[in-house]
Amino acid sequence: MNINTYAHKYLKPLLTNETVALDLTCGNGLDTLFLAQNSKKVYAFDIQERAIENAKKRLTGLDNVTFIKDDHARVDLYVKEEIDVAMMNLGYLPHSDHKITTKASSSLQAFLKTYALLKDGGYFSLALYLGHEGALYEYHAFLKELAGYLIIDHYQNKRTLLEPQLYIIKKADRPQIHYPQKV
Ligand SMILES: C[S@@+](CC[C@H](N)C(=O)[O-])C[C@H]1O[C@@H](n2cnc3c(N)ncnc32)[C@H](O)[C@@H]1O
Repeated sequence: MNINTYAHKYLKPLLTNETVALDLTCGNGLDTLFLAQNSKKVYAFDIQERAIENAKKRLTGLDNVTFIKDDHARVDLYVKEEIDVAMMNLGYLPHSDHKITTKASSSLQAFLKTYALLKDGGYFSLALYLGHEGALYEYHAFLKELAGYLIIDHYQNKRTLLEPQLYIIKKADRPQIHYPQKV
């Protein structure tokens, strides 16, 4: 199964009609639709008008999604309440300009700000792609950051180097990590 199907399978039992969810990269709306069908309320971000339009079409008939056309690094300007579950699916909009992709610095900011908004025990689903230009840089930036978090699940469809990866992070107490100056 691909990482998106796996993420939905993992998260579904955690969602209720009380859940407040956040999709940091709505794209064509597959994750937004999944969250909207299984939660009370969803915030969905994308920087591309085309993505928001595609997602809105997919969500016809559902009225529990707030779409925000802005950089997800500014999530804290729009979301003023605690979040139960967040999803972030990095990379580019399928069937569109592959040069418009997520970037390490704004993705990491979005991750950190969303983690701060997550309830204790909340979940963050992070889908990382490795094949496109700049992807490995973003991947390594996340690997370094994730060393300090509780990764509760990790999935790849095939164990190959460039196969997409899914990380499920659970918000938990984080001990202060001290790195030695020299090893
Ligand atoms: C892989 S797609 C997301 C797929 C989507 N989750 C779905 O279910 O169809 C990645 C999306 O991230 C968006 N994106 C890139 N940089 C962004 C940013 N800084 N803030 C918000 N969205 C961004 C792209 O426009 C693209 O639509």
